[in-house]
Amino acid sequence: MTAVVTGAAGGIGRALCRRLGQAGHDLVAVDVSSRLEESVAMLDQEGLTMHPVQADLTTIGGVEAVAAAVRKFGDVQVLVNNAGITRDSRLVNLSNDDFKAVLDVNLGAAYRLTLALVPMMGRASIINVSSRAYLGNFGQFNYSMSKGGLVGLTRALALQLAPAIRVNAVAPGLIATEMAMGIPDDVRTRMIAAIPADRMGEPEEVAELVAFLATDASSYITGEVIVIGGGRSLSR
Ligand SMILES: NC(=O)c1ccc[n+]([C@@H]2O[C@H](COP(=O)([O-])OP(=O)(O)OC[C@H]3O[C@@H](n4cnc5c(N)ncnc54)[C@H](O)[C@@H]3O)[C@@H](O)[C@H]2O)c1
Repeated sequence: MTAVVTGAAGGIGRALCRRLGQAGHDLVAVDVSSRLEESVAMLDQEGLTMHPVQADLTTIGGVEAVAAAVRKFGDVQVLVNNAGITRDSRLVNLSNDDFKAVLDVNLGAAYRLTLALVPMMGRASIINVSSRAYLGNFGQFNYSMSKGGLVGLTRALALQLAPAIRVNAVAPGLIATEMAMGIPDDVRTRMIAAIPADRMGEPEEVAELVAFLATDASSYITGEVIVIGGGRSLSR
């Protein structure tokens, strides 16, 4: 059982690799960052083997490198499109470069890699890591657009690939990773105050939801977006 996880050097990606590795998957772990080696070493100490591919998923060469690594394992059962970046800005300050960069990683990488790996899938589950911000976040214009695009990709692809391949999205709220720690302290404090659960989520909580969507335990769920945000999609 092969699982491909992108953004595997990041906070959520590492938790995803750990959880899917514990479930018995052969893991192909993809990231553009050399910090991928830290994830490999950390999970190795826990007795879990990852097959790292350092690749930039905004390039055709990067996507081909992942496909070549995956081909050695035969079929792919799970693909988690998790790689993502932020270049936060309000509309008036948004540069064309920041607009393009965020769309190209958050939406483009998922599109390109999915297209490359679908021919290697029989019965499979694809999980796209969107964000609660797909509903719209002030100051995250490009990010919200990219994560909304990922929801469109999820639902359109679920129709095309059913019944053999299920495609779902998870939409995390604020999760305690470096990405969240990059938010200025005062802004993060205000954000936490708006979360009914009164705290940030943990990467392991996202990984648990993804693991559920990866298995047959969720066999009648496809084309859905599941918000995991401590109640943050409710208005207060
Ligand atoms: N942390 C949060 O609060 C939060 C909330 C909602 C959604 N998310 C989403 O969850 C996902 C993981 O976020 P995280 O918090 O672990 O962030 P993170 O920054 O720790 O991890 C993201 C990883 O993606 C990798 N990446 C970036 N560009 C890439 C590229 N071109 N090719 C391959 N890899 C690339 C980065 O190197 C990084 O390791 C992202 O898609 C993010 O948008 C995070």
